[in-house]
Amino acid sequence: MKYIIFNWKSYLNGKESFSLAKSLNKLKFSKKYKIIISPSSYSLFALKNNFKKIELSSQNFDTLGSGGYTSFLPIENLSNFSIKYSLIGHSEVRKYRNENDLIVKSKLILANEYKINPIICIGEDFKTYKNNKTKSYIKNQIKKIFNKQIKYQNLFIAYEPLWSIGSGLVPSNQEIIKIIEYIRFLLKDYSFKKLKILYGGSVNSSNFEELNEIKELDGFLVGSASIKKSFIKIFCN
Ligand code: 13P
Repeated sequence: MKYIIFNWKSYLNGKESFSLAKSLNKLKFSKKYKIIISPSSYSLFALKNNFKKIELSSQNFDTLGSGGYTSFLPIENLSNFSIKYSLIGHSEVRKYRNENDLIVKSKLILANEYKINPIICIGEDFKTYKNNKTKSYIKNQIKKIFNKQIKYQNLFIAYEPLWSIGSGLVPSNQEIIKIIEYIRFLLKDYSFKKLKILYGGSVNSSNFEELNEIKELDGFLVGSASIKKSFIKIFCN
């Protein structure tokens, strides 16, 4: 069974999110896939209240808890609403909200405490890729984010090369396999219950079949294609 996470980013307004969730709720997905929807924070709780069948992920949360923190989304809200997954360290959060690996590290600790399955996003920029430095970049990210003393629960790593997100460019299957194996190798020194590795970056209905041949992958994190009917139907019976 492969995990397919639909990252709706901020593509849809509240009404559109509700309408797409309503259509998804009626679909019968193949047992080969577990579909998880990651809507914007503004739609997340409304969808949770209205569509019991849909598995949801948050796109983010804040490290500060409840209290005098205007505009923050404390992780308690996710566990109170039984939202079981959250993206952490997506490249757009890193870029536009200055999130770094230290913040990702503290969010991972919180997710572990609150039993939220973390989907940690990592990946290199184009210059690093072109200079053949992807492995050392990933090694450094993992070293900064993970702690050998902590027993992690279920852990999802989404390998999302920054140059692939929204660009239509995708690494070859061989390149993806090499990095996935390397991530597994690096993480063998850490303790967790289950490790799932996903790929994200320009996954769409034209390249899904080929990417899905990668046996080493446990699934995909999909952005813009995930709101398109032509893509969604791939996962239906
Ligand atoms: P795209 O699928 O739009 O390239 O986005 C990937 C992504 O950022 C998923 O989290």
